[in-house]
Amino acid sequence: MSIKILNQKSGPTISKYIYGHFAEHLGRCIYEGLYVGADSSIPNVNGMRTDVVEALKNIKIPVLRWPGGCFADEYHWKDGIGAKENRKKMINTHWGGVVENNHFGTHEFFELVKQLECEAYVNGNVGSGTVQEMSEWVEYITMAGVSPMADWRRENGREEPWDMKFFGVGNENWGCGGNMRPEYYADLYRRYQTYVRQYGDKKIYKVAGGANVDDYHWTDVLMKNAHWLMDGLSLHYYVHPQGWEKKGSALDFDEAEWFATCQKADHMDELITRHSTIMDQYDPEKRVGIIVDEWGTWFSAEPGTNPGFLYQQNTIRDAMVAAITLNIFHKHAERVHMANIAQTVNVLQAMILTDGDKMIKTPSYHVFDLYKEHQDAERVDLYGKAPETVTYTASKKDGVLHLSICNFAVSGSEELSFEMESTIKAVKSARFITADKMNQHNDFDTPEEITIQNFQDFATAEENLTVTVPAMSVITLAIQL
Ligand code: AHR
Repeated sequence: MSIKILNQKSGPTISKYIYGHFAEHLGRCIYEGLYVGADSSIPNVNGMRTDVVEALKNIKIPVLRWPGGCFADEYHWKDGIGAKENRKKMINTHWGGVVENNHFGTHEFFELVKQLECEAYVNGNVGSGTVQEMSEWVEYITMAGVSPMADWRRENGREEPWDMKFFGVGNENWGCGGNMRPEYYADLYRRYQTYVRQYGDKKIYKVAGGANVDDYHWTDVLMKNAHWLMDGLSLHYYVHPQGWEKKGSALDFDEAEWFATCQKADHMDELITRHSTIMDQYDPEKRVGIIVDEWGTWFSAEPGTNPGFLYQQNTIRDAMVAAITLNIFHKHAERVHMANIAQTVNVLQAMILTDGDKMIKTPSYHVFDLYKEHQDAERVDLYGKAPETVTYTASKKDGVLHLSICNFAVSGSEELSFEMESTIKAVKSARFITADKMNQHNDFDTPEEITIQNFQDFATAEENLTVTVPAMSVITLAIQL
């Protein structure tokens, strides 16, 4: 059967921010992964690793969320500014119990964002911080005129304010961010967000702390009590194949666990649908976005590493999770305004792993590379029935249609026929990743076990395209119509 592609109708724009990332003061994400300090022998610009910055720019990172996560509700921003030798040291109680020397703070974050050429998403502290502290942080970052915080920023070497597009008012306030009831947090949200002032002419997009997975009551209470004061409401969902307690291994798993992982990734569809339906009651125009600012696989930490560092390897199975989830975000593009996979480097479903001066790109990185042309493109709808293990998405930009297909079967290929509404002039590029083994991955000795290759198993005739999709693969075709 042929899958029809409605390429002549304009769908919603797939926000580029759906391709966002998250970097917390956790394990080796910030320190070692992104920031090595200006004196490091690892090549860097103002302390930021050159290899990592270049790799992230290649996938067009659109936005970076910082400083947490759970860390955000224990972070006191004033500890992280001024001369590095005078910055307070603290224990990172959430993550590994290691010393945090605060050498990466506000100035360093905005330097990183500048080098990445992306937008900043700063997450404020509601759990253990005051309204004044949050308000002064926003003033420090964004105030151009004369003010105590703007003057302090200048004393610390930064004349102009920075652009801060997104601001999160707390994180997981149902858990590590204060163990609050939704009614209580909704009131706190209303109060704290009042002092997230807009000092310049650029609007700050305010994100309220949203639900844990399927806590629909949380969403209802937040929307009922504060929807007009927020631009986005967050949602966190991680894939643990063996459940939250046991999680499961990143590298050692069987076929049943492979499919459990893919099915759990697919659960994101139901979560967004149901949270969005509740939001529709208060916001039928979908002005308030769902901000999935933490998602991805969360396996047991790699044996021999600090369990609090959440370091895990990344296989072709993670690539399946990335493709399944991004396809779901495209499907809900009207409501999902941003998403931030957790976490950029060395933590959970990372794009990049580092070991000293070595760096590797993970299979998940390659999915973000294969999908980057969907950023800010118009979604194109497809009608037809695909085999159970196949998921696909399409978008168009500048007359080019990008079709991405993922087959998460572990063996056997699937032949798919697509019918466009107009003649295919050319297939400009066809690229894919695949593997022979379920746990195939890149490591520091074999960094290109999984890498993007040219894909050839397709044929075109007039408006028809036939693709033979291998098992365990993600493909993107760029089609000139
Ligand atoms: O990403 C790791 C942690 O997961 C974050 O700090 C927290 O928000 C979530 O529970």
